[in-house]
Amino acid sequence: MRGATPSFGSGAAPARAAAGILGGETSDRGDTGTPAAVAAIDSAYACKLLNRALAAELAGVMRYRRHHFLAGASDAEPVAHQFMLHSNEELGHADLLARRILQLGGVAQFNPAHRDGRPRRSTQGGPTLRDLVAENLAAERAEIELYRGLIRTFGDGDAETRTMLEGILAMEEGHADELAELLE
Ligand SMILES: [Fe+2]
Ligand SMILES: [Fe+2]
Repeated sequence: MRGATPSFGSGAAPARAAAGILGGETSDRGDTGTPAAVAAIDSAYACKLLNRALAAELAGVMRYRRHHFLAGASDAEPVAHQFMLHSNEELGHADLLARRILQLGGVAQFNPAHRDGRPRRSTQGGPTLRDLVAENLAAERAEIELYRGLIRTFGDGDAETRTMLEGILAMEEGHADELAELLE
């Protein structure tokens, strides 16, 4: 099976260097402030990182679907339609991440609350359509930062995962652009 053999090494030091990028721990940063790419990271740690992205994607699936129905109740059906399209694309990203986690020997966690345990801002209380778009744009920008960090972390240590992440990142950037246009 393609990718069945983890391409990561088991060096603990690189794994520690990567740990600070998303986990708030000490990171190996150069003068540019950009986290250093690592040659190889432990597959268990890689799966932990990918599960964070999976949780963010699942949260996105649910957020966009919730907003689809909220927006659909107003006169803004085209935006409601766009929210559903985004929801479906986030689900596709979740599938890609889950498949890669399994290929790396990990367990895909289908729990959107897994992401740092921090709930998103509530939209209870009658948000406007602009509120919904702004919330999604903020979430997309956070995911863009998440994926940029992951891409730096995986670096050349796992080209297959990095390529997958770059593809997802490009789509998140497209989502953000679309939402930003709606706010103009
Ligand atoms: Fe996504
Ligand atoms: Fe997105």
